[in-house]
Amino acid sequence: SEPSATTAQKIAKSPSTVGLINRAIQRHDFLQGLDPEQAARIIECMTMSERPRGETIISEGDAGNAMFILVEGELQVSKNGMPVRRLERGTLFGELAILYDCTRTATVQAITDVRLLCLSRSTFRTIRTIESQKRRELM
Ligand code: CMP
Repeated sequence: SEPSATTAQKIAKSPSTVGLINRAIQRHDFLQGLDPEQAARIIECMTMSERPRGETIISEGDAGNAMFILVEGELQVSKNGMPVRRLERGTLFGELAILYDCTRTATVQAITDVRLLCLSRSTFRTIRTIESQKRRELM
């Protein structure tokens, strides 16, 4: 049920959505190390999606093709069928499979209707590659 990889398209965002993404990135141990241009591209390219209560957003063990930020609603994270944590608005999740090329480490299910911001693996990869290439060319 994850969005398929698409070419990076810029989507206009409200100031409050930009703030939500920025805060989610800054709170994340690894992503906070991205440079400002990369963060700006991520903000531009994230797409909004709505999922109904009960839907499984991520299944443990699957190959991951997107990461997400929870904009509205509540999510339940489980491992081996056991609940481990609830996620609140503003939380970034589904990043581990993308950053570390592993399978999904947990299941994430919508316990209310939710709104999510999504960034595909391929778009994230492109942003990382293009921006680091630009930096090398400047050196
Ligand atoms: P990923 O492994 O890609 O997909 C499942 C996501 O659930 C994972 O990335 C994390 O974002 C999140 N996750 C995994 N384990 C936990 C945990 N113990 N507490 C909160 N979130 C988790």
